[in-house]
Amino acid sequence: MAEFGNPDVVEESVDVLLIGGGMACCGAGFEIMRWIEAAKKEKGVDISVKLVDKAAMDRSGAVAQGLSAINTYIGSEQDPADYARMVSNDLMGITRDDLAYDLGRHVDESVHLFEEWGLPIWKTDENGERFDGSKGMTSLKDGGKPVRSGKWQIMINGESYKWIVAEATKKALGTDRIQERVFIVKLVNDKNDPSRIAGAVGFSTRDHKLFVYKAKAILLAAGGCVNIFRPRSVGEGTGRAWYPVWNAGSTYSMAAEAGAELTLMENRFVPTRFKDGYGPVGAWFLLFKSQATNAVGETYMTRNKEMLDDYPPYGQAAVPASCLRNHLMLKEMKEGRGPIWMDTVTALANLRETLSPREVKHLEAEAWEDFLDMCVGQCGIWVGENIEPEKKNSELMPTEPYLLGSHSGCCGIWTSGPTDVGAPTAETEAGVPDHLPAGWNWGYRGMTTVKGLFTAGDGVGASGHKFSSGSHAEGRMAAKSMVQYVLDNQDYNPELDTAVEDLVAAIYQPVKTYLEHKDYTTAIDVNPNYITPKMLQFRLQKIMDEYVAGVATYYTTNAHMMEVAGEKLDMLKEDAEKMRAKDLHELLRAWENYHRILTAEAHLKHIEFRQESRYPGFYYRADKNFVDEENWHCFVNSIYDKESKKWTCFKRAHVDLVDKSKLFK
Ligand code: FAD
Ligand code: ADX
Repeated sequence: MAEFGNPDVVEESVDVLLIGGGMACCGAGFEIMRWIEAAKKEKGVDISVKLVDKAAMDRSGAVAQGLSAINTYIGSEQDPADYARMVSNDLMGITRDDLAYDLGRHVDESVHLFEEWGLPIWKTDENGERFDGSKGMTSLKDGGKPVRSGKWQIMINGESYKWIVAEATKKALGTDRIQERVFIVKLVNDKNDPSRIAGAVGFSTRDHKLFVYKAKAILLAAGGCVNIFRPRSVGEGTGRAWYPVWNAGSTYSMAAEAGAELTLMENRFVPTRFKDGYGPVGAWFLLFKSQATNAVGETYMTRNKEMLDDYPPYGQAAVPASCLRNHLMLKEMKEGRGPIWMDTVTALANLRETLSPREVKHLEAEAWEDFLDMCVGQCGIWVGENIEPEKKNSELMPTEPYLLGSHSGCCGIWTSGPTDVGAPTAETEAGVPDHLPAGWNWGYRGMTTVKGLFTAGDGVGASGHKFSSGSHAEGRMAAKSMVQYVLDNQDYNPELDTAVEDLVAAIYQPVKTYLEHKDYTTAIDVNPNYITPKMLQFRLQKIMDEYVAGVATYYTTNAHMMEVAGEKLDMLKEDAEKMRAKDLHELLRAWENYHRILTAEAHLKHIEFRQESRYPGFYYRADKNFVDEENWHCFVNSIYDKESKKWTCFKRAHVDLVDKSKLFK
């Protein structure tokens, strides 16, 4: 029987390994069975697949708590090119139009599947009256009209959204192909080709078991990165965050260690949220048409409008980018005109003038349900502070920064785009398909620069605004490409570049450290030979918060501060080797920290490299406080060398494939 410190080792070979059980992997897991069946029928090839999630798929990932809107649905009102334009504008002009366009033309199919699987979607009837999903009505696929909260978003009754989506994936894959509660720690490259992926290794968070997988193709879709910055919620509020706390940068760090090129890791998302509960604002701004004001009731988007002129052309768009909206709000806070209020009282009063009493009652209920669906803690705050939104306004606050590629951020991994989008450019090189800028397609949609390693959702950089539906669609696209990749590489036999016993020893090192030294002191947490994962995390968060543009400095840094941060992170990395794990829970926390540190370092290196402040409102370099279109309208990409532990950052040219002039007045 395995015991702590001496785990059973389970070795398994599969053709395709899916890491993560969130929206992207649920999409991939559902879709892949279609292509596996086709490969068997048409080519007589058997392809095996396994999905591994650190948590339980029914409630894992960012959609765990449920949602009340699907933020990306193109519908008949827009087309995928409009979508690519919006994504580009919201991310200050530097995104991959090929990826966004491709997503835009596939995303609705995922939404139609959700509805088919039982997700209730709000509808508008022929008279324009709105009904929630409980009334049924014509499905979107058959021409039903959704209730749009905004141009791109549609309303759902979505408390059980993740359950519904996960159930379809479980049904398609079958439970034998799913392994829950296994945390993947490292990817392993191929012994004979370091630029190829050969497997992954992780441990069970429940039993004393370690898993070593060999695979020809791997989808790494383990979400974004939360908790590298000191959160606003400390002390009794610790653990409360906006993005899901269990997404610890595994996607970015494991890809980087495997040698994959990362992109735009300087980008971050600083969501403006209802203060203290992190409640979502989208429904209030878009559906309830609410305004946000400073302390004396002035709308900062109007009061500070001229600040947008500093950022042409992005400041001139009909809907200014998310970071610019923050930029205008932060001026009020910095100059002492806070707090910032969401004027819920006026918004609900205005709605009473235009809607029927039934619709008003429904919307007032929705004001609560929006939080109950996806952020129940905010309801606790409303109840605890005696807030009735029709009578009392609520405070807004920009949160600590998060790193992600599927919501309103675009950091991530550099991936191969579709083969049929784009126009020839002067940069096209021999040997590179001539329909895309050089380097934007290398054969398989969603594949990273490491052969056989794919990503989706928060993993795919330089796109963003995919949200739940787009991440699912991107997972489905990756599934199709991975099956093709396996078919094209049938003779490949993965060989791990590291011996299994060395992998096991590395993963269980924090346990060994603990067992070796635990009796040195009588107080278990105080010991000169090790550091607890919790303490190490506090140190990381303090460094990032105070030196790398966290809330402590109103999101401001400079080259000198980042130099200090770099030195402190180096020391933190040294000490991280002494993290202890006194149980499986701490082993998980230790490796999450490892992933967080590497992700934090990527973020720092990229901000240092980009000699401008591309995302004002998300971060400012006080020494380069401008957007420099001439020199920095480009991607910043990087490669990490796991042997030397050095990052190399470099520029990649940006090209517009979709005409952006329509965006600007
Ligand atoms: P996730 O869905 O987060 O999945 C990541 C998966 O990886 C999880 O299963 C996790 O357990 C697993 N994992 C992590 N690390 C490891 C590891 N090392 N080993 C194994 N498994 C691992 N979208 C909308 O459309 N509408 C909304 O209203 C909306 N609101 C949102 C509100 C909040 C508060 C949040 C957090 C997100 C919201 N989103 C919304 C965005 C949407 O949830 C994300 O875009 C989407 O979930 C991203 O999909 P993903 O698969 O990349 O990551
Ligand atoms: S949520 O995912 O937690 O619901 P959020 O509330 O920020 O996120 O936004 C939901 C959607 O509304 C996103 O597509 C976001 O871009 C959009 N949105 C939020 N606020 C605004 C605004 N003031 N103007 C335009 N779009 C907005």
